[in-house]
Amino acid sequence: MSVTANISSLEPIVSLAKRRGFIFQSSEIYGGLASCYDYGPLGVELKRNIKNAWWNYMVTSRDNVVGIDASIIMHPKVWESSGHVQSFTDPLVECAGCGLRARQDHLEDTIKANPKCKEGKQHSFGSPRMFNLMFKTHLGAVEDSSTQVYLRPETAQGIFVNFMNVTDSTRVKIPFGIAQQGKSFRNEITTRNSIFRTCEFEQMEMEFFCKPGTDDEWFSYWKQERMNWFYELGVTKERLRFRDHDKDELAHYSKACTDVEYLFPFGWSELEGIACRGNYDLTQHSQGSGKKLLWRDQVTNESYLPHVVEPALGTDRSLLMFLIDAYAEEVVEENPRTVLRLHPKLAPCKFAIFPLMKKDGQPERAEAIYKDLRKITAATFDDSGSIGKRYRRQDEAGTPYCITIDHQTMEDQTVTIRDRDTLEQKRITANEVLDLARSIGN
Ligand code: GAP
Repeated sequence: MSVTANISSLEPIVSLAKRRGFIFQSSEIYGGLASCYDYGPLGVELKRNIKNAWWNYMVTSRDNVVGIDASIIMHPKVWESSGHVQSFTDPLVECAGCGLRARQDHLEDTIKANPKCKEGKQHSFGSPRMFNLMFKTHLGAVEDSSTQVYLRPETAQGIFVNFMNVTDSTRVKIPFGIAQQGKSFRNEITTRNSIFRTCEFEQMEMEFFCKPGTDDEWFSYWKQERMNWFYELGVTKERLRFRDHDKDELAHYSKACTDVEYLFPFGWSELEGIACRGNYDLTQHSQGSGKKLLWRDQVTNESYLPHVVEPALGTDRSLLMFLIDAYAEEVVEENPRTVLRLHPKLAPCKFAIFPLMKKDGQPERAEAIYKDLRKITAATFDDSGSIGKRYRRQDEAGTPYCITIDHQTMEDQTVTIRDRDTLEQKRITANEVLDLARSIGN
């Protein structure tokens, strides 16, 4: 079966994201800053909802996964031990004519975006040199090598260096996971496609520590679990697939890796990486710190270095994917509409409340329902323009339910609820609206 991307270019998403306040260019009034983006009022809610959905699925709903929140700046030795100082590099090539830089493995795309060198000549790229992706800065007032630190390029290392702290302070038993969400930074050579690849981004990672020899079993388990998470949030199944890494693609720490790929408008691309890290990181940090990061089994008295399976998802990249997958342009009763069919759990706003008329007590009744709803979940109030226009605004924001208060509400307490996806409209009581809000949660 041939599968196509939901949309053929990112342009409609970029435009809707700006129009409705999901994503803005960073420092836009100064002309913007390449590869940096800000989230607006709807974007920040969508991102928070994605993070909450991940945390609930990966941490709260399990009795063998705990969370941490480590600092972004860590001891520089962490990155020597982890291998990032030596090996977290990409091959950089530069055009001798115009200085255009590209990642060697992204050269084709870079040339496509910048086809000509100066005076319409062909580019002339030299041999690649390895470029370390970690951002460097200094901690303290003196800028010399003794104060140099890095902004973390992955959240994972904050988990490994806290392995002993977590096992000593909790009752976790192997197999168990430690999860973390937070910012990571990579000085990427090529950034493109909106928030798909940026220099500052958020990750949601979980390191699952298991008994050596059980890695394969847990690798399969987490692959399926991660795919199920996307399915549960309504992502189109046909646009998701697994892709196993070839040996020469594997990161320096990884024994095996499978990507969850999504069919973006620019082709199948990595959404999430699921890696078998073996005992690489705990071994390296044991050696680097001189502290034995062993698991001691209280029952069998065995001591060993656990192996690790790691699902690692980019928050921003998944947000872009959720927007793309939810996007649709349709004609409804001869009128065009753009709609975001976001899962209700992810939708920035769950309910929009419209008084039909600005009289006869309708605004006051609508306000009262709106206030009750806001105690339960995210809701908005809109009394401007025709009902049709108000629907369109909410469709573009991805709001699953619109509630209209009219003269009948004043008589029998019922409202009209309109479903974003089916467009079905029916009358239900205000209390039933609150029950629906509780079933979605916040
Ligand atoms: N700890 C393992 C690790 O960081 P990764 O495959 O390099 O693995 C995991 O990153 C995920 O983080 C990626 O699948 C992607 O979703 C996201 N990610 C990585 N680099 C990114 C970037 N420059 N911009 C946005 N997201 C990125």
